[in-house]
Amino acid sequence: MPAATSRASATGSRRRSVRSGFLGTAVTLLAVTAVTVTAESPAMAAIGADRGAPGQGDPYFPLAGNGGYTTGHYDLDLAYDPATRQLDGAARITARATQELRTFDLDLSGLTVRGVRVNARAARWTRQGQELVITPRQALRKGEGFRVDISYGGVPENITDPDGSADGWITTDDGAFVAGEPLGAMSWFPADDHPLDKASYAFRITVPAGYTAVANGVLTSQRTTGGRTTFRWNQAEPMAAYLATATIGKFDVQQYTTASGIPVYTAVDPREAAGAAPALAQIPAILDWESTLFGPYPFAAAGAIVDHAPDVGYALETQTRPLYDRAPDVGTVVHETAHQWFGDSVSLTSWQDIWLNEGFATYAEWLWTEQHGGPTAQAQFDSYYARPATSSLWAFPTADPGQGANIFASPVYDRGAMTLQKLRTAVGDAHFFTILKAWARGHRYGNGTTAQFVALSEKVSGKDLGALFHTWLWTAGKPAQP
Ligand code: ARG
Ligand code: ZN
Repeated sequence: MPAATSRASATGSRRRSVRSGFLGTAVTLLAVTAVTVTAESPAMAAIGADRGAPGQGDPYFPLAGNGGYTTGHYDLDLAYDPATRQLDGAARITARATQELRTFDLDLSGLTVRGVRVNARAARWTRQGQELVITPRQALRKGEGFRVDISYGGVPENITDPDGSADGWITTDDGAFVAGEPLGAMSWFPADDHPLDKASYAFRITVPAGYTAVANGVLTSQRTTGGRTTFRWNQAEPMAAYLATATIGKFDVQQYTTASGIPVYTAVDPREAAGAAPALAQIPAILDWESTLFGPYPFAAAGAIVDHAPDVGYALETQTRPLYDRAPDVGTVVHETAHQWFGDSVSLTSWQDIWLNEGFATYAEWLWTEQHGGPTAQAQFDSYYARPATSSLWAFPTADPGQGANIFASPVYDRGAMTLQKLRTAVGDAHFFTILKAWARGHRYGNGTTAQFVALSEKVSGKDLGALFHTWLWTAGKPAQP
């Protein structure tokens, strides 16, 4: 594990090398078949017409998320015992059918389902891999609002990502580090686990007294009775499932409100406290600086969770409260905070567009350095451009990293940031910063696509940027011109 002493090594620590694949070809083919079931034959019509698809049809993760409905709210009532690693959960999900539904799916990996109710009536359910297939007593009509209650429990197992790193519910020596990108949410709650479907969340998490349970949004109450403490958290603005957390440990907690009025909650593992202090002290300054560049901070709360989870190897922009596996440096806090605008408030439509998250957050680091006495963003661009054509930086196109291990690799992060620097020099600072703000405002609490970002850039600047984006987003290999 590289020590996070310089910005470069800290950035490296967010990524992992290729170790294994996750969604094998067989799974993928199965998913594609299921998604494309149509009403062509009568038999298919019987199966297909009123069955919600098992995935959102994401080209990289076909089974992620589900079709046939959208969620509005998750109410997660959880109890966890770090000694036994037992998680007990009751999830209440409010949703709306977008088609007639005789059955529909949620994503859930591992754990034991004890019961499912739809609109308060017991429903039939089966488990098929990561799909929890639910058949309500009565079919749901297109447009109908409905409520699903799932009681479940067991010892959660984390998920291995395509790049070999772990995500989901990751046990630590004093609790759990809970991070869900891209597919980890389903390891601890039943979810429509794709960023296209965003919802509000309420958490009620009970842990033995002495432990702290930190989720997203605002802490609304904390009560200890009978040796157990219950934390209630409310995440009012829409959130993608992968950005949810319920991280548990023995933490030093600090709460304050910034001069600009944002409530901050930080939870820090005492073993990381000294190392984390300098970067955490910058949170108010980073929030203000990014608000100036990107527009108003999109959420009702902010903060950080600094855990001691040295095997994880990355930080995650969990909504309102980024999660660090160790004491972060300032660049990493700048990066995860920038994701609150780019990734969290404005979310991906497809995982293929991951550069819209990582390229932007990396570029925020470059801008911070430029505006705080370090090298300019152009100098950062130049030093990356100097890498030889054989460098992994040029291994695949920024906007099509490919299914598998590449969504967190250098062409997404570094070449993604280079693409924004190319855009900035092509359109000039005034237009460039207008574009960033307009992107954050125009897609706030929603989703965006690369094509929409390209169109916005051309509209604001009045320039044809087709060639620039073609080279920097869509062409593999080192561009001939810097
Ligand atoms: N989005 C995180 C970041 O801030 C990286 C997450 C890496 N996750 C993983 N499973 N490898 O860059
Ligand atoms: Zn990132």
